Amino acid sequence: MNLDLLSHAGATTTWTERLGPGSLVLRGFAASEAETLYGEIGKIVAAAPFRQMLTPGGFRMSVAMSNCGTTGWVTDQSGYRYQPNDPESGQPWPPMPATFSRLAEAAAAAAGFSGFAPDACLINRYQPGAKMSLHQDKDERDQTQPIVSVSLGLPAVFQFGGLQRSVTATRVTLTHGDVVVWGGPDRLRYHGVLALKAGEHPIVGACRLNLTFRKAR
Ligand code: SIN
Ligand code: FE2
Repeated sequence: MNLDLLSHAGATTTWTERLGPGSLVLRGFAASEAETLYGEIGKIVAAAPFRQMLTPGGFRMSVAMSNCGTTGWVTDQSGYRYQPNDPESGQPWPPMPATFSRLAEAAAAAAGFSGFAPDACLINRYQPGAKMSLHQDKDERDQTQPIVSVSLGLPAVFQFGGLQRSVTATRVTLTHGDVVVWGGPDRLRYHGVLALKAGEHPIVGACRLNLTFRKAR
């Protein structure tokens, strides 16, 4: 693993850890903005509450989700897709706050992907025991753009595998303020999150929140 020091616009210095040719962990990249992000998440989920969606196979996901942006990721018995409206309310998803898009663009640029302009942000809430099995992010029409993933709250073990499910995944513990970027040759790598351990985070409380930025259309 390569370790490099990096400075960014918020004047914080972060460690980077390379996971692959197109993938990096930016340690603490979002730390100085975490409370702002947390406040914005509160406003978004007041309008589009967290919900545990159904997979196409009929299983209830353990992770609760919401979205902001011009489109949002949803799943139900008819499949995985992006849609502009919240299926629970029929209303458009809340707009993406400028703080979110600026952070995502800066993180992508720090990882070598300049000009990232996400149109979708999936908000994941993990309570103790919640997990996400290995999967690829492949519902986005535009796969030339990276995925930018921001972790807040309790630590979690992120699994980063290969382009085939059978490849053994690397385990990386992600903590409050860490950002992972994957794109280019790593854009379709399998990834997931192990079951969250119970705990209490001073800002976020008894859960982990994850913001995953995508250019979906
Ligand atoms: C995801 O793959 O959508 C979430 C990844 C994470 O929670 O870190
Ligand atoms: Fe994913």
